[in-house]
Amino acid sequence: MRGKIAIVTGASRGIGKAIALGLAQEGAGVVVAARSESAPNERLPGSIHETAAEIEKLGGRALAVRCDVTNEASVTAMVEAALEKFGRIDVLVNNAAIDFPFPAREMPLKRWDIVMKVNVTGPFLCSKAVLPAMIAQGGGSIVNITSNAGAERGSGTVGYSAVYGVSKAALDRFTWALAAEEGKHNIAVNAVKPWAVVNTEGMRLWVPEEGRTGWVSPASMVTCAVFLARQDAGGVTGCVAFDDEYIAWHGLKVREEA
Ligand SMILES: NC(=O)c1ccc[n+]([C@@H]2O[C@H](COP(=O)([O-])OP(=O)(O)OC[C@H]3O[C@@H](n4cnc5c(N)ncnc54)[C@H](OP(=O)(O)O)[C@@H]3O)[C@@H](O)[C@H]2O)c1
Repeated sequence: MRGKIAIVTGASRGIGKAIALGLAQEGAGVVVAARSESAPNERLPGSIHETAAEIEKLGGRALAVRCDVTNEASVTAMVEAALEKFGRIDVLVNNAAIDFPFPAREMPLKRWDIVMKVNVTGPFLCSKAVLPAMIAQGGGSIVNITSNAGAERGSGTVGYSAVYGVSKAALDRFTWALAAEEGKHNIAVNAVKPWAVVNTEGMRLWVPEEGRTGWVSPASMVTCAVFLARQDAGGVTGCVAFDDEYIAWHGLKVREEA
């Protein structure tokens, strides 16, 4: 991916950070976008500057930009900063997401709204902001990080909220719509969801140690995000699938250290 530039939202920790490092290892310049400029607290470590420093330590190019994906002005400023530093945008990974895993009857409206704003409006705003650059360049790739919570019937009882599931179903639907709309501009739009729970700072916040059996590293998600980042409309597009499915269908090799 040498010469390519990727924006990864929610890259201060978790899967987003792992994808940012994975794209950088493949040679891409990476815009590390999230809100935390310094680790907010011990239970939720990670910041955009730490991720950018790790990329640079590996010999990669990174730009840390504070960005709240729910705020259009913040998203526009982040994309402008990316273009000013790197001159192009080839890949957008819409990874930032949140949840408050309470049953619907206990969910305050404020929290319902913010989950929808981060998980659905965020990918819309970020996609809208990068599309002019991608179209002018003749193509690009948008990768949405989704969840099976959008497709299965369980909720609340299985560790996530109804609104989280609703938001991920909406993101899947948005993926199909955007793929259909932007194919003519040679832009691929796909979504990938983890088959197994991925051990991240965000997940650890809600689930105690004894409940973490079967959790995996982000390696499969990184492999798939890098694969999808390489696509344009002539390749894989309009696809919403598990990481394990992309890996099987396309014979991808997972690098565990990713
Ligand atoms: N872990 C899993 O097992 C699992 C399963 C299914 C799907 N997923 C999906 O995978 C993705 C990453 O999950 P994760 O477990 O790595 O989550 P995480 O550890 O909680 O990280 C979430 C990231 O999103 C960022 N973020 C939150 N609100 C934001 C906002 N308003 N603007 C910009 N960035 C924001 C956070 O950064 P700041 O706080 O610094 O802003 C953080 O970097 C999500 O889309 C999630 O739905 C994860």
